[in-house]
Amino acid sequence: MAPIPRWVVLKFGGTSVSTPDNWETIYREVAARVERGWRPLVVHSALSGISDQLERLLVAAPAGEADALVEAIEQRHLELAGELAVDGEGLLRDSFAELRRITAGIALVGEASYRLQARTLALGELMATRLGAAFLARRGLAVAWRDARELLQSEPRRHVGERARYLSATCGFAADVELQQSLAAHDAVIVTQGFIAREPGGATVLLGRGGSDISASYLAVRLEAAHVEIWTDVPGMFSADPRLVPGARLLRRLDYFEAQEIATSGAKVLHPACLPPLRRSGIPLQVRCTAAPGIDGTRISNDPGDSAPHVKVISIRSGLTLISMETMGMWHQAGFLADSFDCFKRHGLSVDLVSTSETNVTVSLDAAANELDTDGYAGLVESLGELCRVQVIESCAAISLVGRHIRGMLHELGPALQVFEEHRIHLVSQAANDLNFTFVVDDAQGPRLVQRLHELLIPAGPADPVFGATRNELMAGAPSVAPAMRDGVWWAKKRQRLLELAPPDRAVFVYDLATVTARAEALTSLTAVDRVFYAVKANAHAAVLRALLDAGLSFECVSPGEIARVLEACPGIERDLILFTPNFAAPAEYALGFDKAGQVTLDNLYPLEHWPDLFRGRELLVRIDPGHGQGHHRHVRTAGSHSKFGVPAAELDDLLSLADACGARIVGLHAHVGSGILQADNWQRTATLLGGLSARLPHVRVLNLGGGFGVPEKPAQQPLDLAALDASLQTVKAAYPALELWLEPGRFLVSEAGVLLARVTQTKGKGRVGYVGLNTGMNSLIRPALYGAWHDIVNLSRYGEPATELVNVVGPICESGDQLGSERLLPPSAEGDVFLIANAGAYGRVMGSSYN
Ligand code: LLP
Repeated sequence: MAPIPRWVVLKFGGTSVSTPDNWETIYREVAARVERGWRPLVVHSALSGISDQLERLLVAAPAGEADALVEAIEQRHLELAGELAVDGEGLLRDSFAELRRITAGIALVGEASYRLQARTLALGELMATRLGAAFLARRGLAVAWRDARELLQSEPRRHVGERARYLSATCGFAADVELQQSLAAHDAVIVTQGFIAREPGGATVLLGRGGSDISASYLAVRLEAAHVEIWTDVPGMFSADPRLVPGARLLRRLDYFEAQEIATSGAKVLHPACLPPLRRSGIPLQVRCTAAPGIDGTRISNDPGDSAPHVKVISIRSGLTLISMETMGMWHQAGFLADSFDCFKRHGLSVDLVSTSETNVTVSLDAAANELDTDGYAGLVESLGELCRVQVIESCAAISLVGRHIRGMLHELGPALQVFEEHRIHLVSQAANDLNFTFVVDDAQGPRLVQRLHELLIPAGPADPVFGATRNELMAGAPSVAPAMRDGVWWAKKRQRLLELAPPDRAVFVYDLATVTARAEALTSLTAVDRVFYAVKANAHAAVLRALLDAGLSFECVSPGEIARVLEACPGIERDLILFTPNFAAPAEYALGFDKAGQVTLDNLYPLEHWPDLFRGRELLVRIDPGHGQGHHRHVRTAGSHSKFGVPAAELDDLLSLADACGARIVGLHAHVGSGILQADNWQRTATLLGGLSARLPHVRVLNLGGGFGVPEKPAQQPLDLAALDASLQTVKAAYPALELWLEPGRFLVSEAGVLLARVTQTKGKGRVGYVGLNTGMNSLIRPALYGAWHDIVNLSRYGEPATELVNVVGPICESGDQLGSERLLPPSAEGDVFLIANAGAYGRVMGSSYN
């Protein structure tokens, strides 16, 4: 029998599995575990937002109104599949078919049972893990996809209704040697779903919203794993919500009980129910952040770091309602509590905090834990009214101080409690487990009290075994502000010169031509590539065009305007150096193209069909739609039936006969799948597709693989591996030695070479958010508003000063979308400071507008 490996369980949440960058991180982390001799089991959630969409689908389906949702869900998965370069259609065909069958079935019957709801919601995880497993396999790991319903079985519970039976099931979690052996037999990384399990009879059940954490913990116990890692979108558990308290500190170590108390008292980092199974088996859990894998996060184990009593967390839960029950009738009487609590039970309401005196019992109800009828608590109040005087106090917040032996430190809390002097406390409760002291106050007071209590009770200072860095310090040290991206970058070296160049009253784009030339040389030195055309649309500045011509590049133009610009910037340029690739153009533009450009690309059959005379005797390249788009945003993925570009491969016969009819010769095939692609194997796939089609076109001598070469925009991104790109294209060249390979990049050549310089006009703090206003915004750089693009932003006047403020950087335009960056950690800014927005050389000035 094979030795049983040392398992580690890694759980990734919805945000973690929704972007290709995060999947690169997941790959690296999993591969590192394998290298260290561990056997990883990866359990992950549905893509972010998909469970919500499936829930909405269940509401819309009985009325037959879910088709658009089905479509959107499918599209979302296909888009990610495209970005991960895995075969989405093939991997998800069965799940898509099942989703459509279920939706039609619900429409037919007019309702969805809880059993069917569970089966529908499970599809989110099943689809996501198919993509995840395929991606990890494509990156070279041995991977086995397993259906979690074979790994986790729910246990029967008495006294629970159908809803809980199917939608919030629980499972047994004893160590399971048989399971260990069955998974060990794969000799591979196991990828499975969170959130889902099955009943002994076979029905799909769910572990409740957020249940993927619980799946990870059940599986860890069953596999007797060495530890569990929960990868999420925050770098650990903090001493307060960092959005509320920027000085909140990372909690480096917690024991299981503390962590559980923190999780139940408001922190959304972990599902509280994932901890008891681990505690009983002594399996440690580490909370990690997918966007900042360099941070160690929070370790939860039997070892809390030190044994002194501490307040470790100030937490807040808002949206509570208090029910105050007042009567003399309970004094020395038996049964009042039983009778009143029975009312809560009958109305299906779960009680949260309780405080009692001889004549009053006050309880809190958490809206998050209770499903309210439209009339709120009216029914409850009516029933309770028969027993006592009832008062409902809405909009309350529970503020909890959490830490071990909290009672032992009440005397130290004295000065801190003075903050409550001028505020009404509705209820105080001290947990029987000595871990938590809670005050309920008006919602409106909550945030300020948390900030004040944090200041008074959580020590500031250097990291110790319990308290780590603050969120701001972590962000400054972590790649989220991209210091590594700034290493050696031209604008950091030329900072003084840029400060001199920045006009006092205008914003300007500045380009570094040495960087343009260096990027051009990187592409012209690819040995597999015959010609490089610069996609003029990225930046049409005359000096940029001349620098690229000098570096040996040709030009790809999409419009007569771009052709005119090239002719003006580079007088006397040979026709052959211009490639014209219009889209949905009028006949006159093709005529102009044949006149001014050496080669013309057609991207539709319509012109051949309707204006054959224009093409008689001409040589043409034809743009093919490769079926799958890629790129940094759906607006820039230019393939597939949802994109307006290109001739589908299936129309090749029509193309041939139309070309024959007007005597045009097809000498090249072209495809451009999208923009901002960082996976080096992308162009080889395009080339292989076009190469295959070229066999049917005797005159083809060129394959133009398009542009789309990405540059790192966000901190976690790795630059495109040009050596790997060249090697992959070499194999194409070897397969089609007679064909020339062309590229037509835009962004890669100019993005990093350009910066936008703007002046600070005003600053302000509004609530928790600070704003820095600049003298330009989306009118100069629309990419953040249009694509959610991330551009590094620097206060150049204060370069190198400590970054201590978290601010949104905005422009002067009358739109809320006029924001160049959000939550940026910067030194305090002042009117007149020069701001630099990086990576603005491509699709910056050319997309600018005169709006406002
Ligand atoms: N070739 C064709 C046919 C194109 O449509 C494009 C870009 C390129 C080449 C150059 O792609 P590049 O190498 O620059 O990725 N405004 C967006 C980008 C739109 C790209 C449009 N087509 C952005 O700011 O990200």
